[in-house]
Amino acid sequence: MTVRHFLTLLDLSPEELNSVVDRAIELKAIQRRGDIHEPLKNRVMAMIFEKSSTRTRVSFETGMNQLGGSAIFLSPRDTQLGRGEPIEDSARVLSQMVDIVMIRTFEHEKIETYAKYSDVPVINALTDDYHPCQLLADVQAFKEARGDIQGKTVAWIGDGNNMCNSYINAARQFDFKLNIACPEGYEPMKELLDQNSDRVTITRDPIEAVENASLVTTDVWASMGQEEEQAIREKAFADYQVSPTLMDKADKEAVFLHCLPAHRGEEISIDMLDDSRSVVWNQAGNRLHAQKALTEFLMQHVINQ
Ligand code: CP
Ligand code: NVA
Repeated sequence: MTVRHFLTLLDLSPEELNSVVDRAIELKAIQRRGDIHEPLKNRVMAMIFEKSSTRTRVSFETGMNQLGGSAIFLSPRDTQLGRGEPIEDSARVLSQMVDIVMIRTFEHEKIETYAKYSDVPVINALTDDYHPCQLLADVQAFKEARGDIQGKTVAWIGDGNNMCNSYINAARQFDFKLNIACPEGYEPMKELLDQNSDRVTITRDPIEAVENASLVTTDVWASMGQEEEQAIREKAFADYQVSPTLMDKADKEAVFLHCLPAHRGEEISIDMLDDSRSVVWNQAGNRLHAQKALTEFLMQHVINQ
């Protein structure tokens, strides 16, 4: 059996990604009307979390429930995964029992190995290198606020981390220009930059990056797993805070997004989330709708075989 996985945004074609975003908008309307839509009755999702989460866990679990199925939360603390059972064996065992798997882990290679041995679709719910589910919600939030993101300019301010790498993939798949402002030594993956040099630029100057940008976004300075680097990173990123003043230098219709959780006083000013240009709460809520659309897409592909 061939199944589709979602390990990065490159696993779906641009057309498929756009259809997932449009479907997310539809599913949101269905949910808001109170209509019941349960195409995944009796289907079960396994959710493997090796890092903390609020949004991802609640959105996937709620989403499966709303689609008529259910979800099981698995942590290394209380499964054999945490006691060293090989990932390959875990993938083959869970394939016998559940219909779809979501994984949040450290090394991206780990989710690639899992997917290789899985007979059911695997969704990347964040690795050290990528966070593709967040990008579906972000593109949806931009579309709802300002229309199609195609042809627009996006500014990424701060760390060249998993979110930044996914923004580069999004620039390619959704066809927008991406200006990244980051300190030296904190660039995103070089391979991604090289492959997308036609649309992605790097600068050290946040003001230069936001010029003409319709969307300005950022993320924490120290990601999960980098807690010990907090102090050194605070110094390195001191000039990379997004504030209403920086937003004033962007396009006058610009919106602000943040995947959250946010650290006020670090990557954003105290008042940034309360600024009228911030649409972060809708963006966070869209994790539910975008992942329901993604899950429906991946399950549809299995059911239709
Ligand atoms: N944005 C995001 O993935 O949030 P959580 O870590 O709370 O899941
Ligand atoms: N870059 C952050 C994103 C959290 C959703 C991290 O990996 O911790």
